[in-house]
Amino acid sequence: MHHKIQTLGEFIIKNQSSFKYTSGELSRLINSIRLAAKVVNYEVNKAGLVDVLGTAGDTNIQGEDQQKLDVYANEKFIQTLVNRNIVCGIASEEEEDFISINSIDENNQNKYVVLIDPLDGSSNIDVNVSVGTIFSIYRRVTPAGTPVKIEDFLQKGNKQVAAGYIIYGTSTMLVYTTGDGVNGFTLNPAIGTFYLSHPQMNFPIEGTIYSVNEGNYIHFPQGIKNYIKYCQMEEDNRPYTSRYIGSLVSDFHRNMIKGGIYLYPTSTKNPNGKLRLLYECNPIAFLAEQAGGKASDGSSRIMDIMPVELHQRVSFVCGSISMVEKVESFMCAPQIS
Ligand code: AHG
Ligand code: MN
Ligand code: MN
Repeated sequence: MHHKIQTLGEFIIKNQSSFKYTSGELSRLINSIRLAAKVVNYEVNKAGLVDVLGTAGDTNIQGEDQQKLDVYANEKFIQTLVNRNIVCGIASEEEEDFISINSIDENNQNKYVVLIDPLDGSSNIDVNVSVGTIFSIYRRVTPAGTPVKIEDFLQKGNKQVAAGYIIYGTSTMLVYTTGDGVNGFTLNPAIGTFYLSHPQMNFPIEGTIYSVNEGNYIHFPQGIKNYIKYCQMEEDNRPYTSRYIGSLVSDFHRNMIKGGIYLYPTSTKNPNGKLRLLYECNPIAFLAEQAGGKASDGSSRIMDIMPVELHQRVSFVCGSISMVEKVESFMCAPQIS
């Protein structure tokens, strides 16, 4: 086997012509996400050091204010996308309203909007556990050259043209789809280049891992409680293994590789669920489906939900197709407690 090692840059160019709309803009957009990923990766990697320095005062060596990493990641992604004059609007977990980008070029023909969770799993930073960034990309629905409107962001997940995540883990990876399968790239930090390490990623049909915050068990709907008990039963290939990192990106990434299911259901505490539809669930759902997995709110497809607000929450069940279908069957079964 002597196939050539491919960098992300080469991959983007090679696959550009297979995009549905080939203006080159989407390629430039993925390229700028690649750049922002490297910048944020550099910062995440020294988070421990920054914390040590931070105790001496609240400014760093350069005299700049210490910033929480999710604010930093938010700024870096927005800066990169804005400066390169590449998108017409951005929505972020860290911003209450969407950002409309007034291009310096008054004939701004930028067609794409980006939605991001700049730092996912941020409660893990202080303890040196993997975190991530999630992004989702749509074509605007309002005319090019006009300011973006809320309806450009409130689109069903099935309208996404690209989505992906960066995982800052034992190694840093960028995993994304443009609707033609899922590919994963690993960063070689010594030279700052992403290489195609996981071509055409595939969700195993069945798995033996379940990921859920079981501390909330008492507050879950009965169907979910029953499913969790099912996972723990001694039968067939069960009991399953429980793995929960508390960072959707990391839990999803592991499950996609090994086979498994992730659940963040509604609860009496979070009656609409906790995760955000637009920049957490939809992009992850797009990746899941593109890899042969499934994403549901417990009864219907995540990507068919018509969003009504930017920071909308939703119940989320995502993973190996037969496991997600099993949850759905528990959710619609007659509820006996
Ligand atoms: P974020 O750090 O962007 O706020 O997201 C955290 C999310 C998700 O990544 C994770 O799976 C989940 O919240 C963890 O929630 P619990 O701590 O309630 O389990
Ligand atoms: Mn998140
Ligand atoms: Mn976040």
